[in-house]
Parts: sequence; structure tokens; C-alpha cells
Amino acid sequence: MKAYLLDPAVAQYVFAHTTPPDPLLEELAKETAEATGDAAGMQISPDQGNFLTMITQLVAPQVVVEVGTFTGYSSVCIARGLTGGRLHCFDVSEEWTSIARRYWHQAGVEDRITLTLGPALETLAAFDQPIDLAFLDADKGNYPGYYELLVNRLRPGGLIVADNTLRRGWVADPAHDETTTVEIREFNDLVIEDPRVTVLMLPVADGMTLIRKN
Ligand SMILES: C[S@@+](CC[C@H](N)C(=O)[O-])C[C@H]1O[C@@H](n2cnc3c(N)ncnc32)[C@H](O)[C@@H]1O
Repeated sequence: MKAYLLDPAVAQYVFAHTTPPDPLLEELAKETAEATGDAAGMQISPDQGNFLTMITQLVAPQVVVEVGTFTGYSSVCIARGLTGGRLHCFDVSEEWTSIARRYWHQAGVEDRITLTLGPALETLAAFDQPIDLAFLDADKGNYPGYYELLVNRLRPGGLIVADNTLRRGWVADPAHDETTTVEIREFNDLVIEDPRVTVLMLPVADGMTLIRKN
């Protein structure tokens, strides 16, 4: 689990009282680590997976968009929470999403998912359905662009969940000026200044922001 923002003893307690991943998600995490090496750190953590399943169950969306699918962990969790809706996954990598496809099949959720390969800014610009729920987890420099396209397509009351918005807490430390931290800081400022939305930043994992269209 990722717990950059918690005291280690508290983190241990939290994890001991959070439902663990099932064997399929454990196998997906193991295969991702073996197949992708350092890139495996991009995968969401099991507690975030529970969060995404629960938020999907709560929102009961018809149209969900995921920007950044990788090997499929978050998409399996979202798809498992669906009751009748559809998940549209956007990514650039044929190689990584070929792993996702296998796990969608094994999880029995492949019929609820559409994958589009290509730069997500272009895919989103061409996407013309009203969105109920979105998970944003791709290249951080494009978060503002993804955000604008998503908010414009979000129905009132719809929700965007944005990942990595605390960057291990570095966003709050002016001494950290690496590119991704600066990009995320700018994204966080953009969102909180947007009168169209209500924002809740959660110190879960690497920071997850809930953005609800008013
Ligand atoms: C942090 S990972 C996503 C992790 C995933 N949500 C999970 O649970 O495993 C980011 C993904 O964004 C994809 N990506 C990066 N730049 C992109 C772009 N311009 N358009 C679409 N996808 C992009 C990468 O290929 C990568 O799979």
C-alpha cells in the first residue's frame, strides 16, 4: 500500500482494517511488477482500488472515463463497481494495456469496458457523451488539459477523481520544485479556483482529489 502521508504505525493500523485485494488483483500487481519493473510504481494501491470500487457503487454512473489505464488495476476496480454503465479507458500503450485486457477478461468485466489507444487529449476531445464519473491518472503535465475537457463533459453532480495530487506531500513544500510537483501544484490551484466545482482533497495514498461539478 502507498502511505506516504501517514505515520507508519497509523498506516499499519489502517491497512489492517482495510479489506485486502482479492487473488486476481494480487496476481495483477505481481505480474505488473515482473513485467514493467520501475513503472509498476504507477499502479494504484489496493486501498485506492477499494475506494474506486466504492465510489463507483455510490455514484452508480452510466458513463465513466479513465485517463491512464496502464495494466488495468484501477479499471478492474471501477468496472467491478458498475451496475449497468460503461467504462471508457484511454491510454497510449498497447503493451501495458494488453495486460489490462487479459485481467478484464479474467475478472469478467471486459463487456463493460471500451479501450481507446492514443493521446488522451485527442481521445477526450472527440468524446461526446455526458460523463458521470472520471478517474484521472495519466501524465501530470496534461492534467489541466484533461481537466478542462472532463469538466465540460461532466454532468452536474458528476465527479472527477484525480490521483497523485499531493506528490508525497511535496506540493506543500516550496523547496520541492521538480517539474511534476510544480505541474501538480498548478493543477491543484486551477481546480480550487474554479467556481464550477466543489473540491475535496483526500490524503489517501499519494493524494486523491474529488472534484464535483456543481
Ligand atoms: C499512472 S499510470 C496509470 C495507472 C493505472 N491507473 C493503474 O491503476 O494501474 C499512467 C498511464 O498513463 C498513460 N499515459 C501517459 N501519457 C499519456 C497520454 N498522453 N495519453 C494517454 N495515456 C497516457 C501511460 O501509458 C500509463 O499507462
